[in-house]
Order: sequence, then structure tokens, then C-alpha cells
Amino acid sequence: MKFLVVGGAGYIGSHMVKHLLDANHQVVVADNFSTGHRAALLGGLLEELDIADAAALDALFAAHRFDAVFHFASFIQVGESVSEPAKYYANNFCATLTLLQAMVRAQIKHFIFSSTAAVYGDPVYVPIDEEHPKAAINPYGRSKWMVEQMLEDFDRAYGLKSVCLRYFNAAGADPEGLLGERHEPETHLIPLILQAAAGRRPAITVFGRDYDTPDGTCIRDYIHVADLVQAHALAVDYLLAGGESNAFNLGNGQGFSVQEVIDTACRVTGRAIAVNDAPRRAGDPPRLVADASRASTLLGWQPRFASIEQIVMHAWAWEQRYPWTDKLS
Ligand code: UFG
Repeated sequence: MKFLVVGGAGYIGSHMVKHLLDANHQVVVADNFSTGHRAALLGGLLEELDIADAAALDALFAAHRFDAVFHFASFIQVGESVSEPAKYYANNFCATLTLLQAMVRAQIKHFIFSSTAAVYGDPVYVPIDEEHPKAAINPYGRSKWMVEQMLEDFDRAYGLKSVCLRYFNAAGADPEGLLGERHEPETHLIPLILQAAAGRRPAITVFGRDYDTPDGTCIRDYIHVADLVQAHALAVDYLLAGGESNAFNLGNGQGFSVQEVIDTACRVTGRAIAVNDAPRRAGDPPRLVADASRASTLLGWQPRFASIEQIVMHAWAWEQRYPWTDKLS
């Protein structure tokens, strides 16, 4: 099979590229390197382009006949999306529209979209299934939900079949140690804790200890990047076998508090980790846990690295290698 991976130089996209190459597929990566890393590309053919460029997409689709397109290229910082919403709607929504229009022109019928638990907003019940009300509370989540709705319309009108994968908290690193997470700036809990463990930061700051949870810190459903990638592979098989467009939650169905993750990191690293306390971060729901039974039933997906120890262990192995320093401040 021949696949296009948009955003293949990013955190999850690069793991997807590795998985597809390991399965002997032909892979073309489209990336504009606004946040991705060249060193994260372990193979495949690179097309350096911006998906907002319709002519570049038409040329790409004229040169290659893709069986499906994976779309990982979006901005992901919730706080930034509040202060710079135009950036989020321009890239996450408008550029995705341009990509989908080019796919329609080229008659490419299968699309795998990286969506997010942020489409649900503040949960009204937990665990969250796919039917939970969609009430995103920030432009990031709204931009993703707008794409999901657009995809329903594109299926009805143009027969473009899609799977939307709603990630909970993506974490961990390639179990073989070749790839991992490197955002600049880093805002995610696990890499920040591990940078503190490695001495690259003075401490980890806990945002709020007064939530209505057993230890007062926020609970999240951390899902290993290798398990996310496996779900994408199953999703494309599902579409290529004639499956209907659908959306799936991707999480372990198990929540861990911020304090529990810090405790796990202390055990895994064997290091003392300095902790500061700070007030709540705006927009953080107390508890986000997935009901991912639809992915299990319809895709046959079973996470292989479900333990928080394993997730932190792989992230720690990566953190200790500390490559790709080019983009770090
Ligand atoms: N946290 C801290 N200190 C930090 C960083 C995070 O206490 O320095 C806490 C947060 O307050 C939150 C938890 O750790 O309670 C996890 O925070 P992350 O920033 O790692 O992840 P989020 O749950 O905020 O966000 C993730 C994705 C978003 C996505 C969201 C959807 O990063 O892209 O899940 O649920 F929108």
C-alpha cells in the first residue's frame, strides 16, 4: 500500500511512519517543519510542503496514487489556542479543508484524522464514550470538532470515508528507543517531569491540588504512542475493507493523577524529583478517562503498553538519549 503521512515529522506522525515502513508499506511524508524534526524521519519519501498550498497538494497527488492519507499536522497547545485562535482555525481547520478538497479532486477516498478528547469539553460523565456531548471549551478543541463535522459532510457529498481518532493523553516513546516526544516549548506532564528528573529543569510544577479527586490532583488517561499508532493501522485496514466513517476514542480506560505520575517517575528513574505547587491551570477538567470499547469492538484494538510504568519507562529511555537538541531553547 502507499500512504501519505501529513505531519510525519512530528511526535505521533513520526511513530506512524516507522510503523508503516516496518510493515513494508510505501510512505510519503508531507511536513512543513513548523514544529517537526528532520531527525524524526526514519525513512520514506519527504515532500516539504504546507497543506495550505493547494497547488503543491495537486502536484503531490498527481505524482502519487495514495490508498489513504493520515493527517497529524496540527497545532496542539490549548492555552495558545485561546490567545491566538486565528492560528488554530487557519491551520487546524482551513488547511485541513484545503487538504480534503485536494483529496476530493484526486479521488482519494480514505482519511485518518488525529482528533482529541478536547472535543468533549468538561465531561458530564466519565468514562467518556463517543456519544458524550461535544462541547469543546477552547479553540483547539473546536477546530478539531469542526473538522470532524466537515468530514461527515464530505462523506455524504463526496464519498470520502474517514476515521476520527480522539486521543486522550498521548505519551511514551518508541519501544525500540529510536523516536520520542520533543515539543518546543514542552507543555506535557510526562516529559516535563522527566526533564526535571534528568536535571534539565529545576522542578515540576503541579497545577492545582484542590480538585475533587482522591489526592486533589487532576486525573488523565495516558495512552502509549505505540498503541495510538497501532490503532491508526487498524483504522486504515477497517476503511480499506469498506468500513463506514466513524470516530473512536483512544485511551486505556484507566486514569492516573498528576501526583501518581510523579510517584511513578520517581520509581522508574530512581531520581528525586523536586515538586512545586501552583494554582490550577485554566481549562483543566478534573478527570478525563476514555471508554474506548468501540475501538476494541470494531477495530480489534487492544493497547499493549497500558501500564503507566511502561509508558514512563519508554519516555525515560528517550529522555536520557536527549537527541534533536536543535530546536530546544
Ligand atoms: N500538569 C501539571 N504540570 C505541568 C504540566 C501539566 O500539573 O507542568 C497537569 C495538567 O494540569 C493536567 C495534567 O498534568 O492536569 C496533564 O496535562 P498535559 O498538559 O500533559 O495534557 P492535557 O490533559 O492538558 O492535554 C492533552 C493534550 C491536549 C488535548 C487534551 C485533551 O496535550 O492536546 O489532552 O484532553 F487537548
